[in-house]
Amino acid sequence: MSSGSGGEPDAGRRGVLKLGIGALGLGLAAVPAVPAIGYLLFPTGSKAGEGAFLPAGKRSAFAGAVPVRVDLYADKVDAWNKTPDVKLGSCWVLERDGALQAFSTVCPHLGCAVDFDAEAQKFKCPCHRSAFGLDGSVEAGPSPRPLDSLEVKEENGLVAIRLVRYRQGVAQKEPV
Ligand code: FES
Repeated sequence: MSSGSGGEPDAGRRGVLKLGIGALGLGLAAVPAVPAIGYLLFPTGSKAGEGAFLPAGKRSAFAGAVPVRVDLYADKVDAWNKTPDVKLGSCWVLERDGALQAFSTVCPHLGCAVDFDAEAQKFKCPCHRSAFGLDGSVEAGPSPRPLDSLEVKEENGLVAIRLVRYRQGVAQKEPV
């Protein structure tokens, strides 16, 4: 028996209810959309290998104190593709007191590639002439810190190295 003034409030309540259901529907639709958008913007595995232990070769390849330059590879996987054996970086590996030591080839000053001068028995950066000892310590030039050491793992005669990039131009090792 709702009529006249009684019908108006019912219609108003129905309108509010419809709006509420509509808003709820939009909210529910947005829930699965959020991870999907994140997946599109930041495909999984786009930085595959960074921070992981990567194969560096046989332990026997690093016998002796002469540094060996090693390129590190990993499969790069994004949302749609898998690209095998992408070079992610390089390091110098040498044996010191029976243990392996690895240094990033990236100069801590401004990021040029550090070479090894066998005659001088030093690592040298050609860009601004920083020089580093076999232990990575700064011996000359503007580098604000020693060469960046990297973690080494040995297992079943094989060597793996954890590739990490560090901020350039600062005194402390800060992963980036
Ligand atoms: S980048 Fe190596 S000394 Fe400047």
